[in-house]
Amino acid sequence: AKVGVLVSGRGSNLQALIDACADPAFPAEIVLVISNVPKVFALERAERAGIATRTIPHKDFASREAFDQAMDAELRQAGVEIVCLAGFMRLLSAPFTQGWAGRMINIHPALLPSFKGLHTHRRAIEEGVKLHGCTVHLVTPDLDAGPILVQAAVPVLPDDTEDSLAARVLEQEHQCYPLALRLLAEGKVRVDGNCAHVDATAT
Ligand code: GRF
Repeated sequence: AKVGVLVSGRGSNLQALIDACADPAFPAEIVLVISNVPKVFALERAERAGIATRTIPHKDFASREAFDQAMDAELRQAGVEIVCLAGFMRLLSAPFTQGWAGRMINIHPALLPSFKGLHTHRRAIEEGVKLHGCTVHLVTPDLDAGPILVQAAVPVLPDDTEDSLAARVLEQEHQCYPLALRLLAEGKVRVDGNCAHVDATAT
């Protein structure tokens, strides 16, 4: 499957996807990386891997819908079949998410449905949870609320800081994201309401 990745920053999850796609047996190929922020490190990672990039600054558009339409046009022109959000820090309009329903995934640094939104690691420490983690889910119009494909949990340790916990979760993100992309690309995901059933028998 041809994949487009949307980024806004450092791009370590993009790198995990690039590395997974380097295996000829992996059922997906990244054909386009779009950033809404100019000159971020994620773009450099893509260029290094020989992947086409576009910078589409959201500030150049009068509305969220117009910005989303510009991204949509680029994705479709590149023949993209699956969209991965990888540290993409913009809310998406309903028409855009509906246009990619079942074919757009996001990685969120918490065990959804706990800790939707921002500052997940700080909030996990403040709440005193003992398990935290990450989630890859299908994107729906509601923020961080779509059907869950893959999760991984890590312990929250007594001396954790926001940074130490983030680093422990990030390691798991880099495992979960390629796995979820593979399952979706292989057609092993069946959506039933807000639940995704994943056939991981042959993984
Ligand atoms: C990750 O923690 C991801 O879960 C969150 O934003 C961060 C992006 O990191 N949505 P990177 O750009 O992939 O390194």
